[in-house]
Amino acid sequence: MKDRIENLLSEVEKFAATSIEQAEQFRLKYMSRKGEISVLFDEFKTVSPEMKREVGQLLNKLKTIAQEKLDAVKGAGDAQEEKKSSDDLTRPSNSFVGGRHPLTIIRKEILDIFSRQGFTVADGPEIEDDWHNFSALNFPEEHPARDMQDTFFIDKDIALRTHTSSVQVRVLEKTAPPVRIVMPGRVYRNEAISARAHCFFHQVEGLYVDKGVSFADMKQVLLYFSREMFGEKTEIRLRPSYFPFTEPSAEMDISCTICGGKGCNVCKHSGWVEILGCGMVDPTVLQNCKVDPNVYSGFAFGMGIERITMLKYGVNDLRLFSENDVRFLSQFKSAL
Ligand code: PHE
Repeated sequence: MKDRIENLLSEVEKFAATSIEQAEQFRLKYMSRKGEISVLFDEFKTVSPEMKREVGQLLNKLKTIAQEKLDAVKGAGDAQEEKKSSDDLTRPSNSFVGGRHPLTIIRKEILDIFSRQGFTVADGPEIEDDWHNFSALNFPEEHPARDMQDTFFIDKDIALRTHTSSVQVRVLEKTAPPVRIVMPGRVYRNEAISARAHCFFHQVEGLYVDKGVSFADMKQVLLYFSREMFGEKTEIRLRPSYFPFTEPSAEMDISCTICGGKGCNVCKHSGWVEILGCGMVDPTVLQNCKVDPNVYSGFAFGMGIERITMLKYGVNDLRLFSENDVRFLSQFKSAL
């Protein structure tokens, strides 16, 4: 038996595979369950006790060397693979790195600007009752003002909120002033979808209620916002308007971000573009939320995130924001 082992040993030592196939043949011949080395291990049981030690050592040596030969071939194969994949270090990576949605980027920018002015963030439900979306906000029942916003009703008293002003009511009902909050969220209106209108979009609402809050405070907060968002040369203009929940009410324009006020298509040659609605919180609304209008006053404003984003990036079709076309989306980069 010793001789057979020594013969095999010299065979195995001479072996050097040049291909995976050869290595596999080698494995079958020597190392597989019925291979020559395995057979010797089986026969080892019959070796006399005084020879066991010597034969055993030899047998183990044979097995180790055979295994080393096989490992060497395998190692060479792996190294080859590795070389292949690292051949061209300049080849473009084909992995696609995702990014933020433009509306997400601008929403964060809006909230950041107001947080620098002491506003914190609040939110409320998208499915709202009549009280929070309309009645508490001083829309009388059957009043034509309810038609200002075409509503998706779920039943008589429940609807998809048409604006984030509903969150003003939710927060004021539960929180004693001072309240200084911004409320981002999605809103719904029953409108035909076009480049300029959609059945859902996003707003950021703002509310500041405290003792002695004035229209001048509102103007300053909104001027700061406009210049942070659109650049320090931006001018604002407040035009009288009407909302049931603010008195007086205004719409705010900024000097056109595209032409700087000279007149272009975006501002329809007026030099101004509207970006938000605002006003002093109507005393009736404060009363509806159990806040004493003789002690407290406040201002509120609401803006469309889509509108700000379109002005900021020069996007001219609202539908692009909800179509999920990566050719559109991948143009927006942020450090968020
Ligand atoms: N809720 C109004 C809208 O959706 C905007 C607004 C908010 C106006 C707060 C005044 C004050 O058009």
